[in-house]
Amino acid sequence: MIKVDLKLAKVDAKGVDVGDAHKRLRDIKVGNDNVWVDLPNIVTDAEIEKIINLAKEIRKDFDVLFVIGTGGSYAGPYAAQNWFGTEFPIEYLGTSYDPMLAANALKKWKGKRICANVISKSGTTLETASVYEEVKPFVKRTIFTKGEKYKEEFVILDGVGGRYSALSAITYLAMAVAGVDIKAMHNGARAAFEDLESPYDNEAYKYAIARHKLHHKKNKTVEIFASFFEGLEGLGRWWQQLFGESEGKQGKGLLPVALTYSRDLHSMGQYVQQGNQIFFETILNVQKPPVKSKLNDAAFKGTVKAHADAKVPVVILNVERLDAYGFGYLLYFFQISCAMSALLLGVNPFDQPGVEFYKKEMRAVLDAKA
Ligand code: PA5
Repeated sequence: MIKVDLKLAKVDAKGVDVGDAHKRLRDIKVGNDNVWVDLPNIVTDAEIEKIINLAKEIRKDFDVLFVIGTGGSYAGPYAAQNWFGTEFPIEYLGTSYDPMLAANALKKWKGKRICANVISKSGTTLETASVYEEVKPFVKRTIFTKGEKYKEEFVILDGVGGRYSALSAITYLAMAVAGVDIKAMHNGARAAFEDLESPYDNEAYKYAIARHKLHHKKNKTVEIFASFFEGLEGLGRWWQQLFGESEGKQGKGLLPVALTYSRDLHSMGQYVQQGNQIFFETILNVQKPPVKSKLNDAAFKGTVKAHADAKVPVVILNVERLDAYGFGYLLYFFQISCAMSALLLGVNPFDQPGVEFYKKEMRAVLDAKA
C-alpha cells in the first residue's frame, strides 16, 4: 500500500538491527505506553457504528460543532478535515491561548445551536479547559472524549498518548461529523497493522532506517516533509508533531519541517536548492489523487529531479490512493515508523517531558501577577 523509494535517498535500508525495538513495539499489554499499536484491533466495528450514529445525531440537531483540543488531540481530525473537506460546519478551538479564535467563533455562531466535542487525554490541558469554560454558556451539548479515568462518552485507553490517538474513538467523532468515512479509515489502519506486523519487508521500518542512516551516517539534522497538495498541510502538521514530540529529547532527533509544494518552492525552495545542506527531503507522492493535474504531476517530477541534482537526498513515499482507507493506512504507517525511529535513536517515543517546561514558566508568570 505504501512503497518507500530510496533510489534518490543516498542510503539503503540494510544493516540496521531492528530486532529489539521490534520486540518492544510489539510487546503489547494493556496499560503499556505502546498499546496504541493494537488500536486497529481494539476499536471494534460496534464502537465505530456508535460514533457514526452520534455524528448523524449531531448533524441533525445542531448547526455547528466546536472541536476543542490541542496537540495530538486535535491534529488527527484537523488533518483529515483538511484533506477530505467537511460536510458540516466545524470550528477548531483551544489549539492555543489566542483569544481571537473563540471570540470569532462565538460571534459567527451567535444564537445558533452549538455542540462541543472536548478532546483531551489528560483532561487537564489548560488551553482546552480554559476555552471550554469560555464557550460553555453558549453550548447546548458537550461530548467529552477523554482519557480512561474520566469514563466519559468515548474513552481512550491509558497507554495511548495524544499523538498516537488519531486512529481512536476520541478523534473519530469529529471526523465522522465532517463526513469522513471512518469505517474505511479504520479498515485501512487494520490493513497497515497486518502489513507492518513482521520485522521483515516492513516499509515503515524501511523509512525509519533510512531516516536513521541519513541522520547518523550522512549527518543530516533536518527532515523536510513535503507534499504537493494544500489539503495535506494538516497531515504535515500532524506528522511534524508526531516526529518532533516523539524524537526531540536528550539533545537528539531530526528537526521535522513540513512544507507544501509548489507553494513553498517559491520561498523555501530557494533554501532547499542552494542553502546549507543540513537536511534531507521526504516527499509524499499520491499516485492516484482525487483530481488529476498534469501541471502538479510535472511539478512533482521536476522538483524531485532538481533537488536530487542539487544532491539533496530524497526519500519518496508512494501511496496509490489517499481515500479514507489509504489515509488510515498512512497514519498508522507513520506512527509505526516514528516509534521505530525513536527507539533506534535511543529515546522514549511516548513521553514529552520538555512540553512541561513552558507550562511551568507560564504558571509562574500568572502566579507573579496574582
Ligand atoms: O501527543 C501528546 O501527548 C500531546 O501533544 C497532547 O496531545 C497534548 O498536549 C494535549 O494533551 P491532552 O490530550 O491531554 O489534552
